[in-house]
Amino acid sequence: HVPNITLNTGATMPQLGYGVFQVSPGEVTGLVSEALRAGYRSIDTAAIYGNEEGVGRAIAESDLAREDLFVTTKLWNDHQGYGSTLAAFDESMARLGLDYIDLYLIHWPVPSKDAYVETWKAMQRLHEEGRAKAIGVSNFQIPHLRRLLDETDVVPALNQIELHPNLPQRQLREFHAEHGIATEAWSPLGQGKGLLDDPTLTSLATKYGKSPAQIVLRWHVQLGNITIPKSATPSRIKQNIEVFDFELSADDMATITALETGVRVGPDPDAFGA
Ligand code: A2P
Repeated sequence: HVPNITLNTGATMPQLGYGVFQVSPGEVTGLVSEALRAGYRSIDTAAIYGNEEGVGRAIAESDLAREDLFVTTKLWNDHQGYGSTLAAFDESMARLGLDYIDLYLIHWPVPSKDAYVETWKAMQRLHEEGRAKAIGVSNFQIPHLRRLLDETDVVPALNQIELHPNLPQRQLREFHAEHGIATEAWSPLGQGKGLLDDPTLTSLATKYGKSPAQIVLRWHVQLGNITIPKSATPSRIKQNIEVFDFELSADDMATITALETGVRVGPDPDAFGA
């Protein structure tokens, strides 16, 4: 019951997936299995999370067909560069136990030695070889995206960025829309505490008979974002995918967007020069 978003490669991706940032290697297999049982078909991990093996184990243990799953992983900063990207990809695939990935992302736009442009060329090769069905970026700002658009031939399928009601990212979302890049939100709940206690959200939760987290996730869905809420709590994993049976009014959407403070929960990518 999760709708698909069509990427600029023609591939489709579930609009809502399960993110495993900060999920420990010991817990991840059980929690991913829980998510798959709850109906998630998209799983988002990264080499730096240290839990790719556990994600792979849950996929191997499930009775779902590989083509029914959408798996994302990310290249860590230290491995940027043409040859090191290809090697790091092989290592991620070995840890995941997969022979292709649905989406491979450059994790951060580290500026050193023009690495992300060279890295992007290696990602294109992985895409051409069919080993990465789609390729994209994460935490890129408009100047980083402009460089890829100007200096290379392949437009990223998506940009995964910090995005939540305190940081609605209007400019980046508009830039993405102009260039056919999908927007994917990380920390869609602003990491939970604080944002989810906001009285605006708790009163909307009462109005719609949903939790504050479900209100925020529905806001993402109606903005057209792809998103990957993280939870290590089975009841919340289940609740977070149940956001396709109600609709926020346009006024309530605007009220949530007005919670913008500009305060980030993660690192500021502006610190990375273009
Ligand atoms: P927990 O893992 O203990 O369930 P984000 O994806 O924005 O980074 O948010 C993740 C944080 O939000 C985690 O601390 C998670 O807590 C919490 N969280 C996830 N889903 C919910 C929910 N439905 N209600 C309340 N908190 C949630």
